[in-house]
Formats: sequence, structure tokens, C-alpha cells
Amino acid sequence: MKALEPEIRGIITELIDGFAAAGECEFISEFAHELPTRIFLALMGWPLSAAPQFTEWTDITLQGIPGASEAESAEARAKAATEIYEYFGRVVARVRSGEDSSETLTAQIINTPLDVEGTPRPLTDEELCRMFFLLLVAGLHTVQGALAWGLIHLSRNPEQREAILDDPTLIPSAVEEILRIETATSGGRRATRDVEIGDVTIKAGDQLLVVMTAANRDEDEFDAPDELQIQRHPNRHIGFGAGPHRCLGPHLARLELRLALEEIHERIPDYALVPDNPAVFHSSQVRGCEKLPITFTPATL
Ligand code: HEM
Repeated sequence: MKALEPEIRGIITELIDGFAAAGECEFISEFAHELPTRIFLALMGWPLSAAPQFTEWTDITLQGIPGASEAESAEARAKAATEIYEYFGRVVARVRSGEDSSETLTAQIINTPLDVEGTPRPLTDEELCRMFFLLLVAGLHTVQGALAWGLIHLSRNPEQREAILDDPTLIPSAVEEILRIETATSGGRRATRDVEIGDVTIKAGDQLLVVMTAANRDEDEFDAPDELQIQRHPNRHIGFGAGPHRCLGPHLARLELRLALEEIHERIPDYALVPDNPAVFHSSQVRGCEKLPITFTPATL
């Protein structure tokens, strides 16, 4: 991840250059969505030109069609999922046939055998397609959401933003606090047995959306859990989950968030939300933001 730092900072600078002089931007489409998408596509070796298509697919998969009926959304989700799997199927076929002989992360994943109890075997096409799909969904909207929550909470807490401007070395702990206070992910689970949590009985087979933010605001663990405290210590949040399915990408996510906050506070430090054009959020397994207009003093390039 450390080796990626210059490339990621370069992408961040380029994106901010795109709107800095205007004094306003729609933060999601012009920054928070673009950043993880570009980094992720570069990391996987997938073409940047595919970005709008991936955006459409992942938006529909996560959110359905906003405003449409459940049946219409389900149909759109199934169509998007089929198209994604077809795309990945072609990626896998090109690497397996030798037509694509690049040494991208994608090729490494395809060519690395899976060790099943001491016996290596290649990953099946279906396993690969599912893994690529998981990586795509896991690595984009999550970072997008965390970036948006960061700006929202810091603009609502100007004295803490001021502290960051005075001392940018506070940014890593601010990132942890943003991941705690507004965790961008809610894991899906199916109960394997009956269980009682608090006063609630969960039955074997029940499907749950586990809202990590609730745990991250547990007052038995955190003092004043609803307050942003960028210097909170200790901060044992579970923003990246816990257990065997803990997030695979926290190092990349933390790097993207740290570098983004460094450059944003350097270039457009007085960003503000726009009261008559408020943010639009979405919630599914990712608690994110799809629109966040901001204004700031125009900056020179
Ligand atoms: C701020 C950004 C991120 C947050 C808040 C986040 C959060 C999470 C959480 C809470 C889980 C566990 C879900 C569960 O238990 O059901 C998870 C899983 C996962 N994350 Fe992240 N994530 C972020 C960024 C990333 C990135 C950048 C990548 C990849 C490049 C990534 C890859 C994954 C994968 C592959 C899993 C599934 C692991 C498994 O099921 O074994 N995540 N993430």
C-alpha cells in the first residue's frame, strides 16, 4: 500500500484540480466516487473506460432502482448481476487462454491455486467471478461513503476541522473516528441458531442487517459515543467488521482516506454543505451518500 501512495495522491490532486477554481462541486460524482473507482480499476488492471459501466452495475446491485417497485428493482438487480458476471467471465477467459498475459492483480488471483486442506486446485470460474464482484462492491461505495461522512462530520464540527488544519498529523486518528461514528457498512447475516440479544429473540434462519454503527456507538465502550472526537483514544471500533470476514481492504481504505483528507484540507479547507441543496443518502449493506454538494473558497491550481 505504501508503494501506491504517490499514485493515489496524484489521482487526488488531479480530481481536486478539476473543481478547485469553481468554489463548488458535487463531492460524490466529482471526487468521492471517482477516487476509489480509479484506484481500484488501476489496481486490478481493468480499463478506466469501464468505470461508468461498473458504477451503473454496482449502484443498481446495491440500491435497486430508487423510486421503482420492489419487483422492478429485483429485475434490474438480476440483469445487472448477469451482466457483471458475463464481464468477469470474459476477463477470466482471456487470462486462462493466454490472450491476456499481463501480471495484474486479476491475473495473479486467477493463476493462484486455492489450497484446500493441503491439495491445491485452481479457482473455478464461478468462484473467481464472485470474488471479483465482492471486491468491486466492497471497495468502492464504502470508501465513497466514508469520504462523504468525513466531510459532513468535520464541517459540522468546525473546531475539530480547525485542529486538523493546525496539525495535519491528527488526520489518521480523525479517519478512525469517522469510520467509528458513521460506519459505512452493515453486514448481512443469517442466524444459524436461536439466540437472544438484549430483549430481542432472533430465530434460526432469520436474516439480519447488522448495523455496525450501533456497535460503534455503544456507550459501554465509547465515552459520549454520539460526539465526533477526532483524538479519541482508545478507539476500538468495528468499522471494518470483525472475525473471519473482517474487511480485506482496511490498509487501502485508510490510505485513500488519509491522503484525501490531507489534500482536501490543504486545498479547500473551508468546505461547507449547501443547506438548500442537501446531501442525499442511501442505505443498504453500504450506508453511503450519493449526492453531496459543497462550496468553498475557490483555490488556485
Ligand atoms: C472505508 C472503507 C471500507 C469499509 C468501512 C469497509 C468495511 C467492511 C466491513 C465492515 C466488512 C465486513 C462485512 C461483514 O462482516 O459482512 C468488509 C468486508 C470486506 N471488505 Fe471492506 N471496507 C472498506 C473498504 C474496502 C476496500 C477498499 C476493499 C478492497 C479493496 C475491501 C474489501 C473487502 C472484502 C473483500 C470484504 C469481505 C471479506 C470476507 O467476506 O471475508 N473493503 N469491509
